Amino acid sequence: PVLVVDFGAQYAQLIARRVREASVYSEIVPHSMSAADMLAKRPAAIILSGGPASVYADGAPGVDPALFDAGVPVLGICYGFQTMAQALGGTVGRTGTREYGHTDADVASGSRLFAGTPARQAVWMSHGDAVQAAPDGFAVTASTAQTPVAAFEDPARRLYGLQWHPEVMHSQFGQRALENFLHDGAGIPATWTPGNIIDEQVEAIRERVGDAHVICGLSGGVDSSVAAALVHRAIGDQLTCIFVDHGLLRAGEREQVERDYAQGMGIRVITVDESERFLTALAGVAEPEAKRKIIGREFIRSFEAAQRRVIAQVGAAGGEIKFLVQGTLYPDVVESGGGEGAANIKSHHNVGGLPEDLDFELIEPLRALFKDEVRAIGRELGVPEGIVARQPFPGPGLGIRVIGEVTAENLRILRAADGIAREELTAAGLDKEIWQCPVVLLAGVRSVGVQGDGRTYGHPVVLRPVSSEDAMTADWTRLPYDVLARISTRITNAVPEVNRVVLDVTSKPPATIEWE
Ligand code: XMP
Repeated sequence: PVLVVDFGAQYAQLIARRVREASVYSEIVPHSMSAADMLAKRPAAIILSGGPASVYADGAPGVDPALFDAGVPVLGICYGFQTMAQALGGTVGRTGTREYGHTDADVASGSRLFAGTPARQAVWMSHGDAVQAAPDGFAVTASTAQTPVAAFEDPARRLYGLQWHPEVMHSQFGQRALENFLHDGAGIPATWTPGNIIDEQVEAIRERVGDAHVICGLSGGVDSSVAAALVHRAIGDQLTCIFVDHGLLRAGEREQVERDYAQGMGIRVITVDESERFLTALAGVAEPEAKRKIIGREFIRSFEAAQRRVIAQVGAAGGEIKFLVQGTLYPDVVESGGGEGAANIKSHHNVGGLPEDLDFELIEPLRALFKDEVRAIGRELGVPEGIVARQPFPGPGLGIRVIGEVTAENLRILRAADGIAREELTAAGLDKEIWQCPVVLLAGVRSVGVQGDGRTYGHPVVLRPVSSEDAMTADWTRLPYDVLARISTRITNAVPEVNRVVLDVTSKPPATIEWE
């Protein structure tokens, strides 16, 4: 792998993703890992990420200089560039000039890192300290008005560094610089492709499962769908998917899942209608965490019941099912502090809210992958575009979008309003642009309106369109006014209980995407 050494902040994940986009496999490791442990992973290259620290701060994270003598190609970025300069005998200064955001860099024509890019290019900077003198043996290959040593390289030792962030899209030729490093500087071939990933996984799953029967909790979302498709490619009919209809789904969702999987993908899906169970359990509950806990618990119950049905139907060997497929992604693994050795598994966000305390061995074929890779693999496996491109929808469903008590009546109102909003956004061609657009019913709030000749006293619904790359942060999407107007008019005409449509214009942070 290419190891991305994480010096904090959120740069490492983005770098790891960009490396994958160059069709090279990457893994994130903490900076606290010893050089020996890093080298034991036999890295094809090492990238030192940016980070929030100053190399002068007490206990500033650094790297073992032995890393640079191992013959492994290294690229230092931002903080990683500075710590690399320091470790190799260059000097880093507190220049006092802080450089944030956009700037222009002039790059040397003979540079390997910047081959094929223009002499002057827009780059994105974020630093207080700066490298003042490159270590011996390095050529300085870029400068900006504020920063004379903005990049250096020693192609013979395959060591490279740059001050700006090539991983952010504001750096015009950043991806090209990364690719130059990976393919030319480090000589790594571009073989991390969807086809190769699928072949590897299929083989690994077959070997592990043998002729056992496997189940997969399907939420209809991208991750569990692609995981199911991959396992199905490996073991075909030995897979049964379970789809729990908890009564908190959006309009048409259950029908869509049944159609897409059984007909579109030839995968056996058992749907269990558990809406009564969930509604009964949620009666009288308005507190968000209480709702989530109840929904999680009832998921277990539903799933256990469904499992008995699977055994009865397909006659699993030995009357028991040993394996459960989960759509855990790499960010889940990294965020739970895992990724190393016997990681503990964070499973709550996957498989439509399946709990951890079910007694199965987990099959997690997407565990090394980022969302965009999962989508690419889904497409390669022939998963219908309607599923692969689907926007996220939370496991607890509309249960956390009715603010107040979740009743059949409130769900009916929200489902109608949500269906209209989704229809209009799709018709306006905005599905790709927005990450998701929760519609939220404020069941506990009423406001006065007028319709025809009469006074109304109805509920508001909130539109929450957001743009995001990974749901960790998000901004509210500036939807065109005419689209908002159409949604508002149609909802208030078609759903008599709703007399007001409002727009949520808050980023995340400080708000979250969902209201509960
Ligand atoms: P928040 O509201 O935390 O949401 O900004 C971030 C993303 O996660 C989704 N979400 C969930 N997904 N189970 C899920 O499977 C959940 O309990 C859950 N809560 C939030 C949310 O829709 C957004 O995409």
